[in-house]
Amino acid sequence: MTHKVTLIPGDGIGPEVTQAVVRILEAAGVKWEWERFAAGAEAFEIHGEYIPAELYASIERNKVALKGPVTTPIGGGFKSINVTLRKKFELYANFRPIKNLPGLETRYPGVDLIIVRENTEGEYVGLEHEVVPGVVESLKIVTEKGSTRIAQFAFDYARKHGRKKIHSIHKANIMKLSDGLFLKCARKVSEGFPEIQYGEHLIDNTCMQLVMNPYQYDTLLLENLYGDIVSDLCAAFVGGLGLVPGANIGVDCAIFEAVHGSAPDIAGKDVANPTALLQSSILMLRHLDESDAADQVQKALETVYTEKKTLTRDVGGTAGTSQFADAILAAMAQ
Ligand code: NAI
Repeated sequence: MTHKVTLIPGDGIGPEVTQAVVRILEAAGVKWEWERFAAGAEAFEIHGEYIPAELYASIERNKVALKGPVTTPIGGGFKSINVTLRKKFELYANFRPIKNLPGLETRYPGVDLIIVRENTEGEYVGLEHEVVPGVVESLKIVTEKGSTRIAQFAFDYARKHGRKKIHSIHKANIMKLSDGLFLKCARKVSEGFPEIQYGEHLIDNTCMQLVMNPYQYDTLLLENLYGDIVSDLCAAFVGGLGLVPGANIGVDCAIFEAVHGSAPDIAGKDVANPTALLQSSILMLRHLDESDAADQVQKALETVYTEKKTLTRDVGGTAGTSQFADAILAAMAQ
């Protein structure tokens, strides 16, 4: 069977890490047909649109996309491509596993956390306007439907994968109605899962608790903004943003992408770590029921980290992006 997948290399380090990952996926015994598209500023130059209509149509057809990071202008300019795609395809669950790779020493060994972030609501609905000069209003939207389905996703995942605890992370002492509704929905869903311990922590305390002792948590269930921030914090436990994968999952479609952004500080230098996107592609292989290929790539990744000979700079090595990909390919061929 050939898997047709929409491929968005993105910009910044996106094309480099995407190229590395595609080379590895091509060698994993799976047949691929890639439908490649630009997005963001690059797409605007070519098509006059930030997200070309053909890109939307391709995702709609293929139901699966692999995506590199896309730069979002700060304080103005076009809307985030990621947020737009997540909303358009109702990719309501942002799933980010945070786990140490064998052989890679970090400040926190043995971390095994799951982050489940609501992906379509909260502050990220982008409803902002200037009421009068000097006063800006920004809306945060929380719905019963959105909160219930993300809680359901977290609990279903926990049950299926034998996870023991879920904490809802919130600020309902201040955002009494919005975060209050999020909690109410999570509590209701939790009643159907008596085998899973359920708790609630305030977001500010959680940040401190995570740094003091990340092992006290198992699965974190968060609204959009909190999930975005806490994901980067947790990436640091396992070696940084170069490592942590992500999946945006909806009812019909799924887009797989790393947690990190376009890293303009290191773009075009062949130094970016493609591990985060590679681990995202392993999630994609599992989503496509290609578990043998997923296991093969995972094993090769673990071999390269355990051997420590060909690691990228962000994790203490000297290898470039393509050299790292070569090492994974060599490990797969062993
Ligand atoms: P960033 O994640 O791009 O970079 C933060 C730091 O981590 C930088 O020092 C960078 O060099 C490092 N880093 C990130 N990925 C790495 C990798 N694979 N290997 C080695 N080091 C890596 O975050 P930043 O700088 O805040 O954002 C840059 C741009 O990316 C912004 O325009 C932002 O909007 C966009 N962005 C896009 C995302 C996406 O497309 N999914 C997600 C997050 C940010």
